[in-house]
Formats: sequence, structure tokens, C-alpha cells
Amino acid sequence: MTVTTEEELERLKAIGRICAIARDAMAAALEPGMTTRELDDIGRKVLDDNGARSAPEVTYDFPGATCISVNEEIAHGIPGDRVIAAGDLVNIDVSAEKDGLFADTGASYIVPPGTREIEKLCRDGKKAMWAGIRAVKAGGNLADIGQAIGKFAGTNGYTLIRNLASHGIGYSLHDEPGEIPTWPDRSERRRIADGLVFTVEPFLSLGGKMAQEKAMDDPWTLVAVPAALCVQYEHTVVATRRGAVVVTLAA
Ligand code: CO
Ligand code: CO
Repeated sequence: MTVTTEEELERLKAIGRICAIARDAMAAALEPGMTTRELDDIGRKVLDDNGARSAPEVTYDFPGATCISVNEEIAHGIPGDRVIAAGDLVNIDVSAEKDGLFADTGASYIVPPGTREIEKLCRDGKKAMWAGIRAVKAGGNLADIGQAIGKFAGTNGYTLIRNLASHGIGYSLHDEPGEIPTWPDRSERRRIADGLVFTVEPFLSLGGKMAQEKAMDDPWTLVAVPAALCVQYEHTVVATRRGAVVVTLAA
């Protein structure tokens, strides 16, 4: 989607804020002993209370309001009976629709106590995302985003998952201009249009290079190959001449 009016921008900010509030409410509720289904219910209530609908549910018939991925799972984990334990690395990804517009945000959290290594991975995952967001500028190159993230990952000794891309969003969960690489990609030649709406969501890992389905009987949940811890941080942004406007902030 390309935002063309102030009214559209306000509508996008409204659903972005709802997604952020759901994400933060779930993060605040995270504690050992709860199931991922209980965590999902907290996110669903925020969406319901604000007149929003879960994007993966309405778009893909995903069996949950939000995606919750624990430890070896890196994305699209199904909320269910899995019990969260101290020391778990939990990714919460919330995408939703209201008044015809979609937003998408995600973050990884360590359930205390975390090891220093995982805490650093979380801090650096956020830095990788912001390196990408800072590279956004209308008139610039989409490839600059993956370049900036790749530089951060390389300098700090991390790998990036290279088959889970960022994406256009707005009128649908996955909208024009399609997938956007969050890693260095020389074949990416497109420019960033003024008002273009998309996600920036690198998957930073301690060795993982690709995402792969976890099990034959689960068409959703993805794990890293080679097996390694991985974090994801995601915001939905609008490209302007002055840089990115982040719409998935809670305040
Ligand atoms: Co997401
Ligand atoms: Co996304």
C-alpha cells in the first residue's frame, strides 16, 4: 500500500497502535506456568476490545489470534497447550485489521532469568531492526534496508534468516510491493516510493540461516536451520522523504 491521504495515515496509525498495545499487554503478562493459548487470549481481548480482527486468522485461517513461537520455534508458532517456563525465549507477533487497514508488529522476550547470551541477542535483535528502519527513505533503495541489517549482523557475528522476508502491508497483511529482503540482496533493485507501507522485521540468529517447517503435521510453525536461537523484532513503517514513520508504537 502507498499512503496518499492524511486520513489513511491516521487509520493506519490507529490499527498500528492497537497491534502495539496487544503486543505489550502480552509481553507484560508473560510468566512461567502459563500456556501460549492463555497468552494468545490476552492479545485477542485487546484486539476485540478495540474493534480489530486478527490478520492471520481472517487472512490465512491461522489457528490463533497471534503467533507465539518459543525457543526452537522462530515464527508462526500456534498458540496452544505449550507451557511457558523460566528462561524461555518467546516471540510474540501481532498483526490485525481495522477499518480496512492492516498493521504488523513482533518482538522476542526472555522469560527471566535469561542468560547473558540471550539477553544480548535480544538487545542486538532490536538494534538490527532499527538499523533497517533508519535506512528507510522515500526515493532511496529497498536494498539499503537489508544492506544496513546485514552490516550490523556481520559486524557483530550474527547470522540472518534468509527466507523470511519483510513485506508490504496496508490493504492486506501481505500487500504490494511483496517481499522485501531483510538481508543483503544484490537482485533487489526497487526504489522506495513516497508513502510506501511495509514491515521491517529481521530475524537475527546465533547461527540459523533458513526457516523450515517444524513438523510434517504442522503447516505453520517454523524453526531455524541449522538449529540455533533466533530473535525477531518487527515494526510497520511508512516511508517519507524524511525517513520512516513507525506506526506500531503503543504511545
Ligand atoms: Co509479524
Ligand atoms: Co510481518
